Amino acid sequence: MHIVKNIFLFLVIILFISCGDNKTTTKISIPDNVTWSEHIAPIIFKNCTPCHRKGESGPFNLLSYYDAVKKAAKIKFVTQTKFMPPWPADPEYSHFMGERILSEQNIALIKTWIENKMPRGDSAKEPQAPVFYTGSFFGKPDMVIKMQKPIVIKGNGTDAFLMVKFPFKLDSEVFVQYVEFVPNQRKLLHHVNGHLLSYDETRSFNYFAGESNLADALNNFVDAYSKMGLTYTDKKEPALPKLLPNVIYYLPGYTPPVYNEDIGGFKLSKNGAFFLKNIHYGPSNIDLLDSSYLNIFFRKTPPKRPLYETQMGTFGISPIEPKLIIPPNEIKTFHTFFKIENDISILSVNPHMHLLGKVFVAYAIAPQGDTIKLIKINNWDFRWQYYYSYEHPVKLAKGSVIHVYGTYDNTAQNKLNPFHPPRQVEQGEGNESMQTTEEMFQFIFTFMPYKLGDEGIELKK
Ligand code: HEC
Repeated sequence: MHIVKNIFLFLVIILFISCGDNKTTTKISIPDNVTWSEHIAPIIFKNCTPCHRKGESGPFNLLSYYDAVKKAAKIKFVTQTKFMPPWPADPEYSHFMGERILSEQNIALIKTWIENKMPRGDSAKEPQAPVFYTGSFFGKPDMVIKMQKPIVIKGNGTDAFLMVKFPFKLDSEVFVQYVEFVPNQRKLLHHVNGHLLSYDETRSFNYFAGESNLADALNNFVDAYSKMGLTYTDKKEPALPKLLPNVIYYLPGYTPPVYNEDIGGFKLSKNGAFFLKNIHYGPSNIDLLDSSYLNIFFRKTPPKRPLYETQMGTFGISPIEPKLIIPPNEIKTFHTFFKIENDISILSVNPHMHLLGKVFVAYAIAPQGDTIKLIKINNWDFRWQYYYSYEHPVKLAKGSVIHVYGTYDNTAQNKLNPFHPPRQVEQGEGNESMQTTEEMFQFIFTFMPYKLGDEGIELKK
């Protein structure tokens, strides 16, 4: 996918382990009369409705008493099994912003309510369903950029890799805090990685012309950029506009991390285009159209602390040991590690594996030997691939070594194994390795050069 090789030089040694206080409580006390209006509605509205509403990922709405009653048996099941709300990261290991985990108390309340035949309680006391903006997870965007024309996904049963541009023209330059990619074919979408192209006003260009999307060019990018009208038209060098990498991201279950205004952000010049260098769909057996779009959220001030991103493992800065080859009928663990050359503050982490992934753990060993726990996923699920953001930046001092372990289950017992009987699965070359049925082992992290006091910054917006 992408590599950014910015690692920085500074010093100071302080350690910080992200430690939340929302440990699951063991003490459960269930009142005699558990009702929707008093007990259940607040739990559902807070933990379920953000996804279970029109336009979001949940397959049905959970916006009212009747919505919940209709799905009661399933709600009991998915909360008992902790399948919902989806949160694969182990809360005993590390904590993150916006962690969605039901307490044992709330799980028990839901169970009792359903076993007691879902009493509504006093409907006058019922909380109002939260009001959301339809078309965005976050609210009304400052700008929406649509595809010039929809992408045609062929129903040929194979993965598809495309490049897409989202050109825009503004009256004046603006600052952006984050971009939300809103998928139209959510079930099929495997990943999106997008950059920003900014044009120099003094040169000539015609970036609204040309193909709006194109099959992935693999190694012939210059040709592809010119077919898509993205190169300057004046035949001068450089032929390509300035590119800011990795400003758009999407993986199953993903929403962009949103930080306070001190952190992140970038500038949009008057003439530019968002360029999805890689949009990857899983196989479909019927022809489909995709008209996904971008929601742009502005910020008032120029960015103060830009963010950088790097990745370990597949396509990344550190090799995988041993080579990512998973023999049939084996459960196998792989390792990758990287020494941090400068003090950095980590803001978010994104583990990535495909269907055979089972366990993922990442931690850092500080120069004095302390362990800084980054993330642990005990039961990897391809459907939920968040960028997990810490509540405060996590400092990694110069000389710290990040270790990442990934365990893959290539036995027939793994229900998600795409092959029956199991066959050898490995990492291919280039896009090949991104086929859903091949494997990847990646640890992506977002960071900024460390500044004194970063550990105390509240990252929440
Ligand atoms: C991050 C978004 C998200 C949140 C939060 C969330 N869900 Fe879901 N839910 C989904 C998606 C997506 C699916 C479909 C999963 C699939 O098809 O594999 C789903 C499926 C379900 C199902 C159907 C399961 C089945 O087997 O048919 C139920 C029931 C459900 N959710 C209930 C809940 C409840 C109750 C909560 C809150 C406690 C909740 N969800 C929170 C996204 C979410």
